[in-house]
Amino acid sequence: MGPGSVTSTLDRSAPVFKIVHAQFLAPGIKRFVIEAPRIARKQKPGQFVILRIYEQGERIPVTIESSDPERGTISIVVQAAGKTTNLLNSLETGDSILDVVGPLGKPSEIKNYGTVVVVGGGVGTAMAYPTASALKRAGNRAISIVGARNKELVILESEMRGVSDALLLTTDDGSYADKGFVTDKLRQLIENGTRIDLVVAVGPIVMMKAVSEMTRKEHIHTVVSLNPIMIDGTGMCGGCRVLIDGKSEFACVDGPEFDAHKVDFSVLVQRNTMYRDAEQRSMAEFQAKKNTQDHPEDGQACSVASGVRQGVQR
Ligand code: FAD
Ligand code: FES
Ligand code: MG
Repeated sequence: MGPGSVTSTLDRSAPVFKIVHAQFLAPGIKRFVIEAPRIARKQKPGQFVILRIYEQGERIPVTIESSDPERGTISIVVQAAGKTTNLLNSLETGDSILDVVGPLGKPSEIKNYGTVVVVGGGVGTAMAYPTASALKRAGNRAISIVGARNKELVILESEMRGVSDALLLTTDDGSYADKGFVTDKLRQLIENGTRIDLVVAVGPIVMMKAVSEMTRKEHIHTVVSLNPIMIDGTGMCGGCRVLIDGKSEFACVDGPEFDAHKVDFSVLVQRNTMYRDAEQRSMAEFQAKKNTQDHPEDGQACSVASGVRQGVQR
């Protein structure tokens, strides 16, 4: 933990969750192993935690990638998207997180369906991994399709291979494996006449929607893990409201997994972009402070950490 780092100024009297290991898996994508024994004992595939880095910080949901009940740890994989995930990804082994609440959400429905296809797009691969692993253990023939924008951003390849009867890989630019999208691989499977009893898709909304449209035509049962904005994670605030089969549901308690063919993706997209201006402003302020910290020669050394302490980073 470097001097002036985010957590060096946190109130150490508060209960905190220690990061026992932190490592970048790809540019902007970091895996954290965090001491959280109670959550590690209870976690099931498909569940998530809501965490808050510092007192005035916002709460963000992150899927539990794996847990180790004996060591009392959980792992999460975080992609830097805006201010809070960038702040999180600046934490290192030995640092701590103020709150980690969970496990939250309904677990994935695990049973022997027959042949399942698990599709992971980008960081969605880390979110799909525990479900793929559990479906394989339940006796399914598991085919995994993993997609990333380019070679550098392919994550958990060996982990996914380890829980799959077959792993199909794509990159958008063709810099690794086959050029194309995960939906190209899914289409090939369908066109080859592969019997598919269930598709699970986790990743960007546009990808989940494309998978859903493809499987709807084929009448293949499909589950997607939705990522609306969440705040409390307990069904109280209404932030994560999604439209399922024309009815409002709360993804934090009724999901996050839903029947893809019943999801209104346009409402999800619209609600997820509601705060874009504020998010962009917040990220720009964060970046400006970070730049000043990285280049203090202008005499205005204002560390990210002191910003945290003063609560100016909301
Ligand atoms: P911002 O700039 O604030 O927001 C960027 C975009 O992220 C927004 O436009 C919005 O679409 C989304 N977002 C912002 N705030 C929230 C919020 N409070 N809750 C949900 N989405 C938000 N990301 C990972 O990298 N790894 C995971 O394992 C993972 N699991 C998730 C599990 C669930 C159930 C959900 C709902 C989301 C998950 N996410 C995961 C997404 C992650 O929560 C967002 O990327 C993060 O909150 C963005 O915060 P930010 O401040 O960095 O970005
Ligand atoms: Fe508040 Fe779901 S996050 S109701
Ligand atoms: Mg944010």
